[in-house]
Amino acid sequence: MQRRIVINIMWRFMGGSFTRLTRCFSTSPRAVGWWENASPAAKDPITGVTEAFLADTNPHKINLGVGAYRDDEGKPIVLQCVRNAEAKIAGCEFLEANATEMASSLVEESVKLAYGEHARVLKEGRLAGLQALSGTGACRLFAELQRRFYPELPIYLPRPTWSNHHNVWRDAQVPQRTFQYYHPVSKGLNFAALVDDVKNAPDGSVFLLHPCAHNPTGVDPTEEQWRDISYLFKVKNHFPFFDMAYQGFASGDLDMDAQAIRIFLEDGHLIGCAQSFAKNMGLYGHRVGCVSVLCADAKQAVVVKSQMQQIARAMYGSPPVHGLLLVSTILSDPQTKSLWVKEVKVMANRIKRMRTALRENLEKLGSPLNWEHITNQVGMFCFSGLTPDHVDRLAREFHVYMTRDGRISMAGVTTSNVSYLADAIHEVTKHDEEALNICYTSH
Ligand SMILES: Cc1ncc(COP(=O)(O)O)c(C=O)c1O
Repeated sequence: MQRRIVINIMWRFMGGSFTRLTRCFSTSPRAVGWWENASPAAKDPITGVTEAFLADTNPHKINLGVGAYRDDEGKPIVLQCVRNAEAKIAGCEFLEANATEMASSLVEESVKLAYGEHARVLKEGRLAGLQALSGTGACRLFAELQRRFYPELPIYLPRPTWSNHHNVWRDAQVPQRTFQYYHPVSKGLNFAALVDDVKNAPDGSVFLLHPCAHNPTGVDPTEEQWRDISYLFKVKNHFPFFDMAYQGFASGDLDMDAQAIRIFLEDGHLIGCAQSFAKNMGLYGHRVGCVSVLCADAKQAVVVKSQMQQIARAMYGSPPVHGLLLVSTILSDPQTKSLWVKEVKVMANRIKRMRTALRENLEKLGSPLNWEHITNQVGMFCFSGLTPDHVDRLAREFHVYMTRDGRISMAGVTTSNVSYLADAIHEVTKHDEEALNICYTSH
């Protein structure tokens, strides 16, 4: 009876329409045909390593996958210069006008780090620079700029390179080529092959170069080799795009680590550059970086900057302010900057000490293998030569985690875990000399 009354009320409410009334009682039809052709995207290799590490309950576990700095207790750090900058900017991050000013100062100070404090091109106004979402965002902005103006030109990436380079230029729809870089037997630079590939690329190609602390190999060209590369680029009219994510981590000295860029600058190249403060300021989560393009003259720089601004505006609007304020405060205050310079050196030196300790421990154990490359390579990573099988055994039997290309993040090595790590590496490699000459793809 009650039900009949309810239906009656609804019938009247629906204006006497039978169709509308029955729709009320049936479940709404499910929308179909959306996203059906989407399959799961490949997992980022580093995420997989982190997940496996977190799931492991063994107290001796070591994470050598992470690409960010850790102190000698394996902990992430907040630099004192960052603490000082935090105190200085307390309460001012919502001042929009101030943020615009700070963004200009961030770019001004960043390009000084890359091209040199007194570089003439700064005074000439030939640099088109923009704050970017850390190093990744800087690469993406440049990739978009490349596609906008040179859609037919591929990007030449070193083989191997940071795996996300492939993703960034793929998503910007820029065709990709690679050039030879690493020599798996010497575990150093394959300079002759690199030179061949640079020579054989069509004139006027775009190349991505890691100016220091190459990820994942830890192998950088020498000063002389950089000079030769720069000369060749000049002859071929290639465009160098430097991705500098680890300035200071190779030598401990910010200027020394920018040497490749300075050489190209001296030789009169036009240059692109991505900079990140994720590692050398320990600001990974704040996503602060800079992208710059050295142009032919100031007029061109204004044009190029306006194009990059338009690209950024359509992709993410504008970057967050807090990290910007931190970095620009550190870089523009001489005292805080000199503290940062010292802290970069401390981080780089700790990594160098861990390289020495790991190599010495392996040698003391009587390893039949040559581990010189651990101390020859520089920066955050050691391209160990460990095979995917070794890496799997290290995880399974020793709770030591790294990417399957055998890349060791030296930041994960500490005074207290280095001998355990050496023992583990020795155990999985001592009968497998041959496998250590295999070439791997990178992550
Ligand atoms: C070579 C290289 N470029 C760029 C990046 C991106 O760094 P960010 O965290 O600043 O985006 C990384 C980070 O791993 C890198 O290794």
